[in-house]
Amino acid sequence: MALYTVAFILAFLHLANLTPLFLPKEEYHFKQWMLQYNKVYDLEEYYHRLDIFTRHKRRIDYHNAGKHTFSMGLNQFSDMSFAEFRKTFLLTEPQNCSATKGSHISSHGPYPGSVDWREKGNYVSPVKYQGHCGSCWTFSTTGCLESVTAIATGKLPLLSEQQLVDCAQDFNNHGCMGGLPSQAFEYVKYNNGLMTEDDYPYTGHDGSCNFKPELAAAFVKDVVNITSYDEKGMVDAVARLNPVSFGYEVTDDFLHYKDGVYSSTTCKNTTDNVNHAVLAVGYGEKNSTPYWIVKNSWGTNWGMDGYFLIERGRNMCGLAACSSYPLPPV
Ligand SMILES: *[C@@H]1O[C@H](CO)[C@@H](O)[C@H](O)[C@H]1NC(C)=O
Ligand SMILES: *[C@@H]1O[C@H](CO)[C@@H](O)[C@H](O)[C@H]1NC(C)=O
Ligand SMILES: *[C@@H]1O[C@H](CO)[C@@H](O)[C@H](O)[C@H]1NC(C)=O
Repeated sequence: MALYTVAFILAFLHLANLTPLFLPKEEYHFKQWMLQYNKVYDLEEYYHRLDIFTRHKRRIDYHNAGKHTFSMGLNQFSDMSFAEFRKTFLLTEPQNCSATKGSHISSHGPYPGSVDWREKGNYVSPVKYQGHCGSCWTFSTTGCLESVTAIATGKLPLLSEQQLVDCAQDFNNHGCMGGLPSQAFEYVKYNNGLMTEDDYPYTGHDGSCNFKPELAAAFVKDVVNITSYDEKGMVDAVARLNPVSFGYEVTDDFLHYKDGVYSSTTCKNTTDNVNHAVLAVGYGEKNSTPYWIVKNSWGTNWGMDGYFLIERGRNMCGLAACSSYPLPPV
């Protein structure tokens, strides 16, 4: 009788569009999650977020009960709809990233079965957090230039994303509204340098350019695009040279990535769908599924300490559509 009453009230509220159907257990999970991530809402917001959270949680549980190469989990984004997430964190302007003919020249291998630049030396900086700004492209850029500089000089700098947000507009970049690593490398090349994170700190907002030439800490001699869809060229570059910046399409199944090799049937694979930029720091293979090791810019709480693996060899989500890296000064 009591259960029937509860169900009836929930159904009534649902029909009245006041609150979704959820179970007490689900609300309990939500409250635990709120505590974990220090979330506070007013009452109306609470039910709205509980609704979104519950949908995500059910999807995550359903996914994890099936057989997949990756698992999903709750994270700091679990109260956001994908539409909200896209607006806040992804590239909002369509990016024309095509490099139909890139200038990367591949060797003919052979390549090692696995490569991880994090293990080769002090070549990869810690995972950073882009905040509420579509500046992923700046983190992909600094990540790659930091590594390229470290490999060339033996010293790993921490470079300024904010300088790219504020100053790289002339190269078809748009601050928190998006941009492309290849275009940001071009900016650094023609601007004659990028400052450090310390000298030009990250705010996560569009601001006016405050570049100080005397404080430039890293340089680009030239920009190398890898020809669109030449994923073997990416393997060649990562195996022989350095980590590589690339773009791909994030779809809603990616938000709750937790670990394993991400693979999707919903994302698209062409240059005009790219909405996120990241850094390939290595590759490998697990249970005969080849993958990339990728550094993201959503903090260390997301994914595998801020990293993810994504299937390699099939242009998954367009990851081979636009990849690039800079050449250091000699
Ligand atoms: C992207 O490229 C297409 C085809 O070359 C062109 O029509 C379109 O205007 C470009 N869009 C932007 C935002 O540059
Ligand atoms: C590299 O690709 C970008 C777009 O992704 C393009 O703007 C740039 O001109 C290309 N650079 C070279 C050297 O081909
Ligand atoms: C994109 O995916 C479709 C369907 O799997 C495939 O037929 C096509 O060749 C892919 N295109 C590229 C550029 O990878």
